[in-house]
Amino acid sequence: HPVFLRDYQPPEFLIDRVDLRFELDPERTSVEARLQVRRNPAATRGDGSLRLHGEQLDLEQVSMNDRLLTPADYRVDAESLTLLRVPDRFGLMTRVRIHPSLNTALEGLYQSGDMLCTQCEAEGFRRITYFLDRPDVMACYGTTLVADRRRFPVLLSNGNRVESRDLPDGRHLVRWEDPFPKPSYLFALIAGDLSAVEDGYTTASGRAVELKIYVEPHNLDKCDHAMRSLKKAMRWDEERFGREYDLDVFMIVAVSHFNMGAMENKGLNVFNDKYVLARPDTATDADFEGIEGVIAHEYFHNWTGNRITCRDWFQLSLKEGFTVYRDQEFSADMGSRGVKRINDVRLLRAHQFPEDGGPMAHPVRPESYIEINNFYTATVYQKGAEVVRMQANLLGPERFRQATDLYFERHDGQAVTTDDFVRCMEAASGRDLGQFRRWYDQAGTPELSIQADDDADDGTYTLTIRQHTPPTPGQPVKMPFHIPLAIGLLGPDGQDLPTRLADEPSATAPGTRVLELREAEQRFRFTGLPVRPVPSLLRGFPAPVKLRFAYSDDELLFLMAHDSDGFNRWDAAQTLLQRLLLALVADPEVGIPDQFFAAFRRALLDSSSDRALLAEVLTLPSESYLGDQMEVVDIDGIHHAHTMLGRHIGERLGEDLLRVYRDNGETGPYVFTPQASGRRALKNLALGYLMWAGDARALGDCQSQFAAAHNMTDVMAALRLLVDHGGAEGAQALDEFYRRWSRESLVLDKWFSVQATSPRPDTLARVIQLMGHSDFSLRNPNRVRSLVGAFCNANPVRFHAANGGGYRFLADCVLELDPLNPQIASRLLKAMIHWRRFDHDRQTLMRAEIARILAIEELSKDAFEVASKALEGA
Ligand code: ARG
Ligand code: ZN
Repeated sequence: HPVFLRDYQPPEFLIDRVDLRFELDPERTSVEARLQVRRNPAATRGDGSLRLHGEQLDLEQVSMNDRLLTPADYRVDAESLTLLRVPDRFGLMTRVRIHPSLNTALEGLYQSGDMLCTQCEAEGFRRITYFLDRPDVMACYGTTLVADRRRFPVLLSNGNRVESRDLPDGRHLVRWEDPFPKPSYLFALIAGDLSAVEDGYTTASGRAVELKIYVEPHNLDKCDHAMRSLKKAMRWDEERFGREYDLDVFMIVAVSHFNMGAMENKGLNVFNDKYVLARPDTATDADFEGIEGVIAHEYFHNWTGNRITCRDWFQLSLKEGFTVYRDQEFSADMGSRGVKRINDVRLLRAHQFPEDGGPMAHPVRPESYIEINNFYTATVYQKGAEVVRMQANLLGPERFRQATDLYFERHDGQAVTTDDFVRCMEAASGRDLGQFRRWYDQAGTPELSIQADDDADDGTYTLTIRQHTPPTPGQPVKMPFHIPLAIGLLGPDGQDLPTRLADEPSATAPGTRVLELREAEQRFRFTGLPVRPVPSLLRGFPAPVKLRFAYSDDELLFLMAHDSDGFNRWDAAQTLLQRLLLALVADPEVGIPDQFFAAFRRALLDSSSDRALLAEVLTLPSESYLGDQMEVVDIDGIHHAHTMLGRHIGERLGEDLLRVYRDNGETGPYVFTPQASGRRALKNLALGYLMWAGDARALGDCQSQFAAAHNMTDVMAALRLLVDHGGAEGAQALDEFYRRWSRESLVLDKWFSVQATSPRPDTLARVIQLMGHSDFSLRNPNRVRSLVGAFCNANPVRFHAANGGGYRFLADCVLELDPLNPQIASRLLKAMIHWRRFDHDRQTLMRAEIARILAIEELSKDAFEVASKALEGA
């Protein structure tokens, strides 16, 4: 049964204070909760009862104002405890038993390895105790943890530690007090035999903060990068947003079993260890980057999420969209802004655009859901960040800062809505964002068709811009969006021209200018242009839209070479590559024009350009992205075209690629800087093209790189190429890699992934074999993602094999996982929901597998929602 935004009601009761006492044991933990409850003066009176959320709890005792209640005073069902008659203000005590070791869903209190940990967002707290488990009920928490001292020497919870002592029976007790009111989803506890890396930070106003990263002792040597990232994030948030940390201690804990990336619990962030642990020889550049970004993201939540939280889960993007925007800006400042933007847009196009065009399309602020965990999506996170970015750009840096200052001041300590956020933008800028709000409630990706007309005689140049947003489930008709468009007009020398719209008194200086599109169709007439310009449209990707403009190949080559906007140089190159590849799909015999190789070579040898950016420019669009551009995805045609173009590039530019490879070799010890990782990216890209072409010299280079490299980036690049190359070298490298790394589980994940994503024809058989490997387990989400997720999401040619083997395999996995961990099962299932994009036979095969899942009686809400929406109308 879906929940609807329009049904929101303020809570009838509030809880001001919670005192929790845990007697921790993996098999059976006792949780005693004392709640101070009062009627909410701002809510309407109900029937005098109070219904608390609670799931999978064994209720042992309930008392009200210290009087023991009997079963006649309350009702219990699978989801709640209802107290039949309650006063306007009272104390409530409940005691329940829970079973962490049996909790395979990893929601609530569960066991991960030898430790106990919690994940409460979105609705996991109700698996710990009876509560009003909704984000608009904010309380102060005191938490007492009792556990065996030898097994669980470290006991952590939110806030500051206020007491710690041994008990006579070999147990010990630690008490934590969190002074900031918070919703239950931010509660956390950790118990384990952990070691900490410690550091300190002094905030701008002089508060001394202890920083601690807790890991299993053998991982102590993999925390430096996370700690450095944390300190950078703390400084950046002070400088950029005026936000300081507010407790005496900030703790991070790395756990090995985790459904998502990480969690921003107040003062005690819990992380998937993938986003904490890194050493140059165990983690790639992408891992280092991911850690820096996620550490910052969770830290930034302290203000955007914790101090100011969401009124209800429909407002999820209030905290996630804004926090992603903040972490994107942080990473842009730490590394290369241009490359960061390219990667963010690549991600948006690869995941959010398809989501927006498929059966699970939903607005940034959804209007209904069956299972909220299904809505931690690219739309809520990445498109949500774009919506914040557009507002930042519309306001400009100063006004935007005033608007966020206002937001933090006005709403501190509150649970609010995305509308409250936009109201702050409006108040600080004096702008009316009424039409802009549609970005929050209309789903779908707007398509812009732009037509250019020039009149050589009077020097005018007109852009006619039409916007159209295709229907999405439940939203057949869309209203026009308010879309900021950053554009430039290039003269024949490649320089930006000054521009002047017909109704402006004079021209603006050469450079980028912003047009604001509000109508379904709108004309922008530029005057006084000496020549017909080449337009550079959507500079820096100013809005999450698709662009249709009839560029000639020559114009794209021109933009690729000259555009002052780095993003658009990349985008022009990608459009060109995409054209070439789609032409090859349509006709494998089509010739590749010489001017393409010339441009590719020019770019490759352009030593003035930043190598990271170059690597982006010279990377072929992915097979799945190419598929998204087709009416009907041609899986095999695309794979063939991709391989063929890669091979041609390797053959035609072999000498140049080899030189680039050898010139960019590692010179000293590993450093994670934009320059160094750019060199590695470019070098490994060049090696890839050479291997595609079957270059014998490259095979040798690949083998020596695999054997000699001291950093995981280069080791993995070489391993991947050796495996994909298909010879005995690949099998041998895999064996060696396994022998060296089988005890480092994050590295072992890479060993699984590299096999699962290989385009070799026998990959599915290998994946099925690996499911039975002694190191594989369905209970570890990272392992599942590294094998099953990687195969289904990053290996289109094998997953979508025409015989349906990939689909059957996925459905089998989903069915086995669903009873264990519905969140992971449902996420995997999303790999099949775009079945309508494929040919008839594949459609039939996928539909049948989804139907097979939907037929299961005890299917989780998570999987049910995805499967039923996928088949809606079919
Ligand atoms: N708030 C976390 C983050 O963005 C995500 C946690 C989501 N967990 C979940 N089970 N839905 O950083
Ligand atoms: Zn987040």
